[in-house]
Amino acid sequence: MATLSLLSKSYYIVFVLSLSFIGSFPCLDDQREALQEFKDLLFGELMTDNSTDMFLGGLETWNSSSECCQWALVECNSQQVTGLNLYSVFPTLGKTSTVLAPIFRIKTLMSLDISYNSIQGEIPGIGLRNLSELVYLDMRGNSFNGSIPLELFHLANLEFLDLSDNMIEGVLPNDVVGLKSLKQLSLDANFIHGELPEEMETSLN
Ligand SMILES: *[C@@H]1O[C@H](CO)[C@@H](O)[C@H](O)[C@H]1NC(C)=O
Ligand SMILES: *[C@@H]1O[C@H](CO)[C@@H](O)[C@H](O)[C@H]1NC(C)=O
Ligand SMILES: *[C@@H]1O[C@H](CO)[C@@H](O)[C@H](O)[C@H]1NC(C)=O
Ligand SMILES: *[C@@H]1O[C@H](CO)[C@@H](O)[C@H](O)[C@H]1NC(C)=O
Repeated sequence: MATLSLLSKSYYIVFVLSLSFIGSFPCLDDQREALQEFKDLLFGELMTDNSTDMFLGGLETWNSSSECCQWALVECNSQQVTGLNLYSVFPTLGKTSTVLAPIFRIKTLMSLDISYNSIQGEIPGIGLRNLSELVYLDMRGNSFNGSIPLELFHLANLEFLDLSDNMIEGVLPNDVVGLKSLKQLSLDANFIHGELPEEMETSLN
């Protein structure tokens, strides 16, 4: 009797272990490292792994003892990171746009929301061009300045682009037609002049 219950207990343990294994797809190492590096740039390396009691807008779940696809604010499709919802996560840190550099290594990103984070400096065009799968890009409510980098207009899959409420200046170049899939565009509350090419205006809502 005793051996039987011991046996069933170990079966139970194997069952639970395999369930939790199935439930957690490990994310790709380089993507996980990129996210960890981004968090380090935001909060400083000293704080990142022993600050579990501290609320970091969801980023406190980005620790080395869990799978990155199970972290808050991260969306995955099987093992690949496809979305980051970083709306108003670090508005008080006063970071410049260079803090975003690690994110530009996650080429499987389809959705990136970095709105309302008080990010300063120019839009990192070369980095964003890396994210050629992007469908949704929300950079609203930061302090991005300078002009819109031409690289941004190469994101041919982009359907949603919100740059409103920044300090972006300059004339909207004709290159904007490169945004072939665009359905929604918001540029208001900036210092941007010019008009959208006619062929685009009809396809936007
Ligand atoms: C953890 O926090 C303490 C201060 O509370 C700090 O001295 C230490 O360097 C931090 N980081 C790590 C990785 O232990
Ligand atoms: C890591 O984060 C998870 C939540 O995602 C939490 O349950 C776990 O306790 C954390 N581990 C450490 C060592 O902080
Ligand atoms: C683009 O991605 C590659 C490989 O993932 C990376 O090495 C490179 O630094 C990225 N470029 C920028 C400008 O971030
Ligand atoms: C944009 O802002 C950054 C930092 O706030 C500043 O150093 C830079 O000169 C500004 N660039 C432009 C083109 O206004």
